[in-house]
Amino acid sequence: MELHILEHSLKVASIEKEGIEICTHGLIKLAFLASKTRCKFFSLTETPEDYTIIVDEEGFKELPQSNLISVADSTWLALNVVSGGGNASSSQPIGVTKIAKSVIAPLADHNISVFMLSTYQTDFILVRERDLPMVMHTLSSEFTLFRVVNGETVAAHNLGISNGFVKPKLVPRPIIHPLSSPSNMFCVTSLDPDTLPSVATLLMDVMFYSRGFPNNVLFTSASGELWKMVRIGGQPLGFDECGIVAQISEPLATADIPAYYISTFKFDHALVPEENIQSVIRALRTESTAQ
Ligand code: ARG
Repeated sequence: MELHILEHSLKVASIEKEGIEICTHGLIKLAFLASKTRCKFFSLTETPEDYTIIVDEEGFKELPQSNLISVADSTWLALNVVSGGGNASSSQPIGVTKIAKSVIAPLADHNISVFMLSTYQTDFILVRERDLPMVMHTLSSEFTLFRVVNGETVAAHNLGISNGFVKPKLVPRPIIHPLSSPSNMFCVTSLDPDTLPSVATLLMDVMFYSRGFPNNVLFTSASGELWKMVRIGGQPLGFDECGIVAQISEPLATADIPAYYISTFKFDHALVPEENIQSVIRALRTESTAQ
């Protein structure tokens, strides 16, 4: 298995609900007019609390300075796992379930804070730039490490950390933050960039004028599968605590339940197949110290 370390230095920021208007110009450019910016990594997530934006330094320049925007002080690097061999075998679990034991748990065992961003295509594991030497050390036994430099993928050199490999702990990992599950259903989909013009007005509606997520508007997914969410956190989770993603993803992996996992500025969110939501909540609550 290969682990790719992408080259973008990423900022994680929160835009308050009433701040979205002053960001519209920049966000339209970032989301729809890729040729007008040098931004290479952009993600926007709306929750009832705020908007979370993850962008590289070029993209960050498109946002105004405002007290309606808070920026996390670290810069982050995105990692993603690429399974070698190229043939996507259908038996592979998808999403965070696939990387729970090989990536998420070892990083948690080494007290490395992550920030997760699952997409339809892949799962990005964001780590703080300053933690990279420790991240590489931790994951080098399971993965062949590559770095992307000027768009090219090259073998990553060991950064010379040799303070002994810490064996994964087999200690229990109780869930410490409260969980909740809203009644909405989610559809996870992807679209071919060439079709963006035909859905642009719809996406603008979703991005800037939605109260909640509109139903049935983006049903391009072949499976028609629906997902339900478990939200993790009562108070905002911050960026320093580690092990939160591991607490949730490990039991899901053990039960072989596919899951997407999306961290936002304040809270974490796991998406699980709709038909599994009751058993997931039951399983997570038994691991939980919070309820
Ligand atoms: N740092 C947490 C972990 O390592 C996940 C992110 C939680 N924080 C947040 N703002 N969503 O498990």
